[in-house]
Amino acid sequence: MVFPDPLLHVDYSAIMARDDEKLHIVIFPWLAFGHIIPNLELAKHIAQKGHKVSFVSTTRNIERLPKPPPNLASLITYVKLPLPKVDNLPKNAEATADVPYDVVQYLKKAYDALQHPFSHYLESSNADWIFYDFAAFWVPSLASRFGMKTVFYSIFTPPFMAFMGPASYMIDNDPIRTKPENFTVPPPWVPFSSTVAFHYYEIMRIVDSVSDNDSGTSDTYRLGASIENCDLVAVRGCTELEPEWFQVLRDIYRKPVLPVGQLPSSGFNGGDENENDTWRGIKEWLDKQAHGRVVYVAFGSEAKPRQEEVNEIALGLEKSELPFFWVLRVRRGASDTEVLKLPEGFEERTKGRGVVWRGWAPQLKILGHGSVGGFLSHSGWTSVVEAVQNETPLVLLTFLADQGINARVLEERKIGYPVPRDKLNGSFTSDSVARSVRLVVLDDGGRVYRDNIKEVKNLFLNNQRQQKYIHQLLCHLRSRSHPKKGERVFRD
Ligand SMILES: *[C@@H]1O[C@H](CO)[C@@H](O)[C@H](O)[C@H]1NC(C)=O
Ligand SMILES: *[C@@H]1O[C@H](CO)[C@@H](O)[C@H](O)[C@H]1NC(C)=O
Ligand SMILES: *[C@@H]1O[C@H](CO)[C@@H](O)[C@H](O)[C@H]1NC(C)=O
Ligand SMILES: *[C@@H]1O[C@H](CO)[C@@H](O)[C@H](O)[C@H]1NC(C)=O
Repeated sequence: MVFPDPLLHVDYSAIMARDDEKLHIVIFPWLAFGHIIPNLELAKHIAQKGHKVSFVSTTRNIERLPKPPPNLASLITYVKLPLPKVDNLPKNAEATADVPYDVVQYLKKAYDALQHPFSHYLESSNADWIFYDFAAFWVPSLASRFGMKTVFYSIFTPPFMAFMGPASYMIDNDPIRTKPENFTVPPPWVPFSSTVAFHYYEIMRIVDSVSDNDSGTSDTYRLGASIENCDLVAVRGCTELEPEWFQVLRDIYRKPVLPVGQLPSSGFNGGDENENDTWRGIKEWLDKQAHGRVVYVAFGSEAKPRQEEVNEIALGLEKSELPFFWVLRVRRGASDTEVLKLPEGFEERTKGRGVVWRGWAPQLKILGHGSVGGFLSHSGWTSVVEAVQNETPLVLLTFLADQGINARVLEERKIGYPVPRDKLNGSFTSDSVARSVRLVVLDDGGRVYRDNIKEVKNLFLNNQRQQKYIHQLLCHLRSRSHPKKGERVFRD
């Protein structure tokens, strides 16, 4: 049986008739900026339609966010909850980027302890719906206590979620995929032919990163229970771009799955009040470079490459002879003792031609500059969307989590070129980095990547379609909240 598209069965005219009915929606992302930012973009879209949004996170995370745009300030409220103290979590560490990878489990432990202040907040919030993230698998039980409904909002893409499989397999043990190599081929519930699967080294890094479970609950259990217990699943993505993946999700979840669109960045500024000065300096340097020649290198707010990978990337950029702007996070928080180093003499040798930037950088503005001709990226979806927004062709180098699956999707459509790597251990050489960036930025052989990123833009990021997704999501929420007050809106 095929689970129907829920949007086909909603009587929109009945809902439009009650268009004045405004909802109060609570949004509660996981403590990672890679999650907080796409949640904030969704909050803005919801508020633009006149609904009230309470955006809940910890005190320090909220303080690091930009203020809501003035026209939405009355509709978006930031709610700060103090993060409970747990052993082994450094002081002031409230987001994943503040701690080394092996400490993230203690952040999850503290996050789980947030359910008490969160519950206290909900009690007096009068909210209709709660949007929550994969780590907060306990939200539905709180919500039901207060008569609220829940949306599991996945910032992970439909192909990644489909690859992860049915919720029950994540909650118990996957009966089909018992070995890491089983994750290197598409699973049986994907009914069409596809190259989308992990490489061996990617799945091994994931196994390594989730095997420490001092938080008491594994990531797969969290994700599975989040899907299982919500009223509705909303996924970052568009049905026009990938209808087949949305259908897989409906079939394996057997509940409504709605797209929220790609939610392109509206210019998040990292909360940095010196943003304009920072940008002025960077722009001055970019202005001096040749048009479409600069390689922009950045791996998002989470990924920290290994030292040997940093060496190959650096030497590869040097060998490419192209100008480059590399945003490099050398550590994850003040407690991270493994500070990344650049190869001996690298910065002197590339002086003038390349910049290594160790702070926050205005990525969207950099990608929009005419000098930038390629983006060496980790394939994090927010970065991918920003590359498409600016028609910047992609070179892909994955590090963790969903990045491998994202990269396969982009490779399949020839939107991004993967740096060639050893299939088993993932190692790559400076020569392969140099060849890859030259291919995508200048060589004739890489024209297809430069053309395709332009071609896919409308399918990815049509504003009208983006508005339609949000409208449909809100209609759906309205049709299902306050069931006693509302009229029946589902056709039989
Ligand atoms: C999982 O991997 C093992 C070892 O390679 C193999 O024997 C088994 O058939 C695989 N299972 C599936 C469902 O592919
Ligand atoms: C956590 O790890 C231990 C030891 O590896 C294991 O016995 C336990 O089942 C795991 N717990 C969860 C919830 O995954
Ligand atoms: C930064 O520049 C933009 C556009 O030039 C301007 O609207 C904004 O007010 C400036 N922000 C600050 C903090 O100076
Ligand atoms: C990865 O495998 C390649 C090819 O077998 C080998 O040359 C290289 O030393 C390995 N790298 C690591 C880090 O194990």
